[in-house]
Amino acid sequence: MYMPKRVTMVEVGPRDGLQNESSIIPAAVKIALINRLAEAGLQVIEATSFVSPKWIPQLADSSTVLAGIERRPGVRYPVLVPNLKGLEGALAAGAEEIAVFASASEAFSRKNINCSIAESLERFAEVIDAAKKQRVPVRGYVSCALGCPYEGAVTPAAVAAVAARLFDLGCYEISLGDTIGAGTPGQAQLMVDTVAKRVPLEQIAVHFHDTYGQALANIMAVLERGICVVDSSVAGLGGCPYALSASGNVASEDLLYMLNGLGIETGVDLERLVLAGNYVSGFLGRPSGSKVARAAGCTSGTVT
Ligand code: HMG
Ligand code: MG
Repeated sequence: MYMPKRVTMVEVGPRDGLQNESSIIPAAVKIALINRLAEAGLQVIEATSFVSPKWIPQLADSSTVLAGIERRPGVRYPVLVPNLKGLEGALAAGAEEIAVFASASEAFSRKNINCSIAESLERFAEVIDAAKKQRVPVRGYVSCALGCPYEGAVTPAAVAAVAARLFDLGCYEISLGDTIGAGTPGQAQLMVDTVAKRVPLEQIAVHFHDTYGQALANIMAVLERGICVVDSSVAGLGGCPYALSASGNVASEDLLYMLNGLGIETGVDLERLVLAGNYVSGFLGRPSGSKVARAAGCTSGTVT
């Protein structure tokens, strides 16, 4: 069975996780969380988003958060951007990398960003062009890669078409998102195989929500196919207010525990990662969504 030697973990908790909390979390807590994640050795931390505060009030403090974090050398702090206004705000706040997000499903595109897929790609073409002029790298997401909360099934061909367009526009990496966390390993492999005919495998990442408990199995299935960039969220935070049926992302702690067990390098320290997750869970006043963090708690914090 093929397995990569090294996997890059892209931490999306501060953005995907905190965008979905019902309460507004103080910027100071977000900043402390991001700093702890960087201390744990994560090299890519999606810090926040520059979307409309009317749509996502939870992240209305994005400029404060970006200004407050300690920028560790070698760590990238991308932010989500939906349009030129978002790019402008992100650059003014000191963002050095952005991510744009399209959908493979029409209905989700309309609910999430209030436009069709084609309109969104036109909008992103302008954003990517403007970012490139400033030498700002752009990551692209494709949501609903394994199903849509409104339309149900989504074909791998539909995912591949949007992924290829984002790649051709200049995204350096395409993250394929199972937004509703309903996909299973065979579907995940077929979807990745189909996208890999249009986007080089080394430039594909995966982003699994864990609603049906399939995320680690799906990740394992696509690692076997050669994927070596995986999104995850500390304490299993996450979700999208426009995909109400979805739960959190795969927990970073659980992903790291599995990768460690497989002997795959990540550069991330599990004990510190668990502490970062426990910090934010403590603030939110609920147990961590990571099984590894909960198991570690039962054995006096020691993580093996
Ligand atoms: P709209 O209402 O169609 O936008 O929203 P508009 O251009 O008509 O503007 C309306 C108002 O918003 C105006 O203000 C604009 O200035 C303002 P007003 O004149 O009414 O005072 N506005 C902005 N303000 C700040 N920053 C901006 C911005 N843009 C407009 N960037 C829009 C369209 C795209 C803006 C909106 O739908 C939006 O912000 N959507 C974001 C939704 C979102 O963040 N969803 C979650 C992230 S996606 C996700 O979680 C999936 C992912 O994790 C992968 C996966 O799991 O599959 C990535
Ligand atoms: Mg997501």
